[in-house]
Amino acid sequence: MASVMMIGASFSEVERDRLKTAFNARFAADVADLASLSVQERAETTALAFKGHAPFGAAAMDLLPNLGLIANFGVGYDAIDVEAASRRGIRVTNTPDVLNDDVADLAVAMLLAQCRNMIAGDACVRSGDWAAKGNLPLNRKASGSRVGIVGLGRIGREIADRLAAFKMDIHYHSRSEKQTPGWTFHSDVVSLAEAVDFLVVALVGGKETLGYVGAEALAALGPRGVVINISRGTTIDEAALLEALESGIIAGAGLDVFLNEPDIDPRFRVLDNVVLQPHQGSATTETRTDMALLQHDNIAAFLAGRPLLTPVN
Ligand code: 8YV
Repeated sequence: MASVMMIGASFSEVERDRLKTAFNARFAADVADLASLSVQERAETTALAFKGHAPFGAAAMDLLPNLGLIANFGVGYDAIDVEAASRRGIRVTNTPDVLNDDVADLAVAMLLAQCRNMIAGDACVRSGDWAAKGNLPLNRKASGSRVGIVGLGRIGREIADRLAAFKMDIHYHSRSEKQTPGWTFHSDVVSLAEAVDFLVVALVGGKETLGYVGAEALAALGPRGVVINISRGTTIDEAALLEALESGIIAGAGLDVFLNEPDIDPRFRVLDNVVLQPHQGSATTETRTDMALLQHDNIAAFLAGRPLLTPVN
């Protein structure tokens, strides 16, 4: 009898094999596939290994009457309706901390790529334009500039620590002021944006942060401002962001997350002032292995009746 089911087309073969070997887990690519399982298969399922960003809500939970755990592969669990899970006595876990370094590294990489025009630089060398047309226009100094971190949680803190090593003047906005001598706290995101050259968004996704960085903050950031987003596409008002990028309200952006991934708004693709990444903040072999193991360990703890390692409810 298989009591564990994995749901998510983005589970790699290695991850699927690991869950199959450990728990004899069944696989469903999509939440919608649950409806086609037999009543017995659904009743047997007590734990889910979940991966991806497709919504998992009350209706899906009700298809699995004996579900006790949803173990999310990822720190962000905004796809899962945690309130609905709690009402049904279903526990939810995530995979915090193990991905902080990688996500922070990618934020810094996009910021540097923006300043130093690295995408155009690569194309210039590759195409032969360097020899044919000469050097690119001068680019922009990153070290020593002013950066604003929106959300000084675990990942935001890692980003700030890295950028402090680039001699940047660190400003931040978060729910509460932190013990970070020398860094400047802003009680709202518009005042933060006004004070800095780079705005790095490291918020938790979900209803509470929907459109948190809006048109007003982008206008305050101004025509030399650059936005970096490694959180969720939902945390920035995407319509306002596209407008700001197209009309020069801000200088550019480095984006790893979007609305409607992977079918992102095609307007992004034709902009030459953006660095675009396919939501790969945590996508290194090392970190994805650690995330998979933490998901596995939460499921093992649940099945053995031990305390969950990283519960969110
Ligand atoms: C995803 C992420 O988990 O951790 C998160 O919140 O967004 C990512 O690391 C990963 O893309 C797998 O879905």
